[in-house]
Amino acid sequence: MSTVYLNGEYLPKDRARISPDDRGFIFGDGIYEVVRVIEGRIFEWDAHAERMTRGLAGLRIGFGARDVDGMREVCERLVRDNGLTVGEATVYAQVSRGTAQRIHHFPPAGTPPTVYAFAAKFTVPRELREKGGVAITYPDYRWARCDLKTVNLLGAVLARQAAAEAGAYEAILLRDGVMTEGAATNAFTVVDGILRTYPLSNYILPGITRRVVVELAEETGIAVVQEPVTHAELPLASELFVCGTTTDVTPVVTLDGRPVGNGKPGPVTTKLRDALAVRMYAAVAVSSSR
Ligand code: PDD
Repeated sequence: MSTVYLNGEYLPKDRARISPDDRGFIFGDGIYEVVRVIEGRIFEWDAHAERMTRGLAGLRIGFGARDVDGMREVCERLVRDNGLTVGEATVYAQVSRGTAQRIHHFPPAGTPPTVYAFAAKFTVPRELREKGGVAITYPDYRWARCDLKTVNLLGAVLARQAAAEAGAYEAILLRDGVMTEGAATNAFTVVDGILRTYPLSNYILPGITRRVVVELAEETGIAVVQEPVTHAELPLASELFVCGTTTDVTPVVTLDGRPVGNGKPGPVTTKLRDALAVRMYAAVAVSSSR
């Protein structure tokens, strides 16, 4: 039985109890993060903490930067207590607005947020990273604050289900005729030799991996243009890839049943995929030697 964290306690998962009145359950009223852990070290903790703090402030949930910072130790302990310090793991952490009578507006001041976290083993799907995968396009039905990582994930759930039913692993979302991002990833395309991705705005999640990929592109001399790609341009793309904490850089080689470019991972994608791997595993080596 795995050990989880709930409101200050570490306990076996089957003993963790959350009220049915929890606003996370009733309203999807909360923020979450997923971090990647390599050999016991969290990749890009500060960036995840900053995004979580911003999201909680955006929802006006009383769990500030110091509280979020305290979650680092929680994540690290969960990794240790679950025997996940060797190899790779993920930690999921969620903060909801707490438990209160079901009324839409905020509960009384002082209602404690519900804080929950768990760790899980992560196995990198090497063949998918190497050969690429299949995606479909799907309407972006999500609300207009996609920059907040809220637990309310219906738009992503429906899109991923459509992808699963089509034998694809990701859905590329289209809003007003342009690609925004993947259901649980950020998306990049090469059109006319130029790497493009949707600009940071309220319509996409500011992905931590996206930020690292943009940095790596700049470092390796690949220009990135942060402008939307239209649905009409997608068939002209020579490369398409998605990225995220559990996705790294994954090539998309088939979109809506048609090959992307020559149907194999392209040079820009593979360069960035490999550069990200170097960054992720080097960061671990550097922090372990501290
Ligand atoms: N998903 N866009 C969306 C909509 C996401 O849900 C995610 C992450 C990303 C990538 O962000 P990052 O690089 O910070 O992981 C982009 C997480 C992993 C999930 O829901 O499981």
